[in-house]
Amino acid sequence: MFPKNAWYVACTPDEIDAKPLGRMICGENVVIYRAQEGRVTALDNWCPHRGAPLSLGRVDEGKLVCGYHGLAMGCDGKTISMPGQRVRGFPANRVYPVVERYGFIWLWPGDADKADPATIPHLHWADDPEWAFGGGMYNVQCDYRLMIDNLMDLTHETYVHASSIGQPEIDETPCTTRVEGDEAITSRFMNNISAPPFWKLALRGNGLPDDQPVDRWQICRFTPPAQVMVEVGVALAGNGGYEAPKAVKSYAIVVDFITPETETSIWYFWGMARNFRPEDKALTAQIREGQRKIFGEDLEMLESQQRNILRCPGRDMLKLNIDTGGVQARKVLDRMVAAEHAAAPAAAATASA
Ligand code: FES
Ligand SMILES: [Fe+2]
Repeated sequence: MFPKNAWYVACTPDEIDAKPLGRMICGENVVIYRAQEGRVTALDNWCPHRGAPLSLGRVDEGKLVCGYHGLAMGCDGKTISMPGQRVRGFPANRVYPVVERYGFIWLWPGDADKADPATIPHLHWADDPEWAFGGGMYNVQCDYRLMIDNLMDLTHETYVHASSIGQPEIDETPCTTRVEGDEAITSRFMNNISAPPFWKLALRGNGLPDDQPVDRWQICRFTPPAQVMVEVGVALAGNGGYEAPKAVKSYAIVVDFITPETETSIWYFWGMARNFRPEDKALTAQIREGQRKIFGEDLEMLESQQRNILRCPGRDMLKLNIDTGGVQARKVLDRMVAAEHAAAPAAAATASA
């Protein structure tokens, strides 16, 4: 249950540096590689000869060469040559729209003629030297909507991340959710509290004292199909919190792109963009390591939750106030999927047969 007419983060550029990458995205088996002049290309990961994954091949002068018997394919999906064979009449492979932007490779797994690169969400921090980004990726065995729920309801931090970003005040402070078009925004503001360990590190990293009361905020913004940006930060207490001047706060954006692999697994691209000490690579590495550990804790919970859900199909889950952000996100996704099926009823009927 995911929209296919949408842009998803497929991989990071380093993943296709050395060789073609095979990756399942929204149920589509895709090979991604760099063709002529470094141009990113994505094709059906299937060799028309005997069905070998083309991702096991190599790139030779811009052509994708199958690793089994040497069939060479162009970035238009057409077979160019095969040793000792006439290739005219070989069926062409499907070509997927791809765009390299903001340090990620974005792929459109749906109808190619509907793909408009202008609809890739703008990431203002990505090309701004005032900001630094560090991140990584996890393959997680869960429905992508469970990850969206997780990121839109940060009360879990108190329990899942007790030693890093969790603190009882998260639980004790109510959150509010609002909807703006297709976006859902859940916010929580906690004033005059002590900073948890991760934020002490970020305060020190920004040259601020870590032993004073702070105002802390979390603003989670879901953008369909599967992006959650969480504005997070702490400011020395009494300076305006979120609105406090830069000199007294450590502020960042938790970046989450959640790409379905299958109905019950995801490629989870996580990271943090920050606008303090952007030149400090050691700090970037330290934050990335902290985040890697934190998201590792989510991973264990989400995979266990997914296994439990699969064991009890049809069993209901409750929707509490803290779940409003995730519930709103699901409404948007339901609408998008319904619109896709309405636009292509024949295709949808075939797919579900
Ligand atoms: S399977 Fe690819 S060339 Fe034979
Ligand atoms: Fe978490």
